[in-house]
Amino acid sequence: MIVDSLETLRRRRSAKWRTHPDDVLPLFVAELDVPLAPVVADVLRAAVDASDTGYAAAGPDLGAAVAGFAARRWGWDVDPGRVTPVTDVGVGAVELLRVLTRPGDAVVISPPVYAPFFHWVAEAGAQLREVPLTGDLRLDLAGLEAAFADRPAAYLLCNPHNPVGRVHSRDELAALVTLASRYGVTIVSDEIHGPLVLPGATFTPLLSLPGAAEVGVSLVSASKAFNLAGLKCAAVVDGDRALTASFPPDVPWRTGHFGLLATVAAFTRGDEWLDGLLGFLDERRTQLGELLRTRLPWISWQPPEATYLAWLDCRAAQADREPAELFLQRGRVALEAGPKFGAFGAGHVRLNFGTSPAILEEAVGRMAGAAH
Ligand SMILES: Cc1ncc(COP(=O)(O)O)c(C=O)c1O
Repeated sequence: MIVDSLETLRRRRSAKWRTHPDDVLPLFVAELDVPLAPVVADVLRAAVDASDTGYAAAGPDLGAAVAGFAARRWGWDVDPGRVTPVTDVGVGAVELLRVLTRPGDAVVISPPVYAPFFHWVAEAGAQLREVPLTGDLRLDLAGLEAAFADRPAAYLLCNPHNPVGRVHSRDELAALVTLASRYGVTIVSDEIHGPLVLPGATFTPLLSLPGAAEVGVSLVSASKAFNLAGLKCAAVVDGDRALTASFPPDVPWRTGHFGLLATVAAFTRGDEWLDGLLGFLDERRTQLGELLRTRLPWISWQPPEATYLAWLDCRAAQADREPAELFLQRGRVALEAGPKFGAFGAGHVRLNFGTSPAILEEAVGRMAGAAH
């Protein structure tokens, strides 16, 4: 997979390339620097050529595409009739929480976790209850049981887990399902990073587990793996309770037409390209490990099992300011600041390694220079 030069990448106008001035290397937001998958580019080009720019038609294509992808890649049997398009994962999560909660109900999350989880719970009018990951960055099942015993309305699961890159094991997820059934808690599983599980790990979709359909609902998307975030399409996969039946009627109309076309193409004909991407990201993960070992040996990390995001523990620096601030101001490298992800985030940064070997090397070199 060949990534464009920095000069070409800077012509992009997305948030990654327009938030900081040109002397900053942007390795913060989860956008990929690789070129679009040709199957996706072709479908978008054809739509432009045909002036096909109206509303998304919520027909059977998305359900069939999600079901095909889930069966081929994960052995998960999805009923296409249970797949509902939504604008993006954020909109899907907020609408699900609106259905599941009454004002004041609690929703449990496990920080450090994708920062908008905090905002989504607030947007739905619910109360946050935090059960942080354990010290080795796993789900704290004992802590979750204690929280579930207070009967929160829902648990927002990040599967795989951003920012730490953990792919929760089948046993951990099965234990979570048991707890959810015992205490009547609905699990909303954000599986946007599911297609990005790297060699060495195995992804377990929540709803593929026995008993999970009774307590769970999932959100899937092609947007992280195929870099389609700006096109606005994700999908809710209902469990046995048809939660999407209670969505406001206009929700499917808010899906992006280009997003839906691109998602169907990616999930139907994108496997070969995705396999190439996963090999490329595996190499970048190895490269990052080497670079950190030689240039920034005081940073500790667990290489992620999924995603192109690395969670770097910089606490050994004992600096008087957050490392993201130091790396930006002195190194001109933009990373996500750990505190955004909640508990245990201080002293950490999240680095997006979905870029070229040259940019990654330059970024770590600058970080090393900044730390001196
Ligand atoms: C765990 C997780 N959920 C959701 C999103 C955002 O998805 P969307 O743009 O579809 O709302 C991201 C983006 O990085 C993410 O990491």
